[in-house]
Amino acid sequence: MSKVETQAQPTQPVTLRPGNIQLDPQGKLRHFLAIEGLPKAVLTKILDTAESFTNSEEKKFELLKGHTIANLFFEPSTRTRTTFELAAKRLSADVLNINISASSSSKGETLLDMLRNLEAMHIDMFVVRHGSSGAAHFIANHVPPHVSVLNAGDGSHEHPTQAMLDMFTIRQHKPDFPSLRVAIVGDLMHSRVARSQIHALNTLGVGELRVIAPQTLLPVGIEKMGVQVYQHLDEGIKDVDVIIMLRLQRERMHGAFIPSEHEYFKLYGMTEKRLALAKPDVIVMHPGPINRGVEMDSAVADGSHSVILQQVSNGIAVRMAAMAMAMRNPDGSSAS
Ligand code: NCD
Repeated sequence: MSKVETQAQPTQPVTLRPGNIQLDPQGKLRHFLAIEGLPKAVLTKILDTAESFTNSEEKKFELLKGHTIANLFFEPSTRTRTTFELAAKRLSADVLNINISASSSSKGETLLDMLRNLEAMHIDMFVVRHGSSGAAHFIANHVPPHVSVLNAGDGSHEHPTQAMLDMFTIRQHKPDFPSLRVAIVGDLMHSRVARSQIHALNTLGVGELRVIAPQTLLPVGIEKMGVQVYQHLDEGIKDVDVIIMLRLQRERMHGAFIPSEHEYFKLYGMTEKRLALAKPDVIVMHPGPINRGVEMDSAVADGSHSVILQQVSNGIAVRMAAMAMAMRNPDGSSAS
């Protein structure tokens, strides 16, 4: 693999600020916790590495042979957990799947206890999904130098590998980011995916980034993240190149954010008729799971503009790239 072209970062004590903890002193990916704080060169390197895997005739690589990866999922997941597992296997790592239903009251203690036990089993990398924002950072702050942590979604904070597989999918269809107009539609308030996507799209230099949602589903101050806010779907999707639909994250809603799903679909649901307002070659994306008839019609989900299943496939190559880049040698240096 070619070298990361980024500048070396100053060595600083580990803090919760993602930019410091995620890169090693050579500027190489050390943990993958958030898109925020990562330079464009590292994001591009993830995309290029993923592309080298998809372009290869080989199905299996020996890059992580002898390394052990533990999937720690404190929240349910199908596609993310499965594609992380497939990615690890295609890199010849040994994989351990641990599904935990966490009790929120004993979280800190349970996490640390569990970590120490797993470390005693010589795990080299943790892939962590957790309902609390900051959980992956917390773990990364407590592992020894040869262990890395990949965030597979923490609360409503970030989901960096999802955002990178989305960037990869966009790049496959529309590689010139500065010329693109992208719209993210739906429950931005509770979406870790949207937060990661906004950071990734801005870092990769997308031309125009719009967010479209009712006021109740928009985080306060979102306009400070470099997006244009629209409350009307028809207006917001006019002439866009890429539409990213988000699921209504009911499990994170405490209270009534929308009058009803029926009403939501009427105002914010994607239909073929509405899609005609966007560019003729628009692509429609969704991180899954889709709620058909709530955020989009089946005709759109299964239609010719949809790249939703390509996103799932691309998850494997992008997760392979993140794993290969973050893996450490026993002395803590980069294994890639
Ligand atoms: C997303 C998640 O878990 O944040 N899904 C996923 O990883 N495929 C989005 C969602 O649950 O709506």
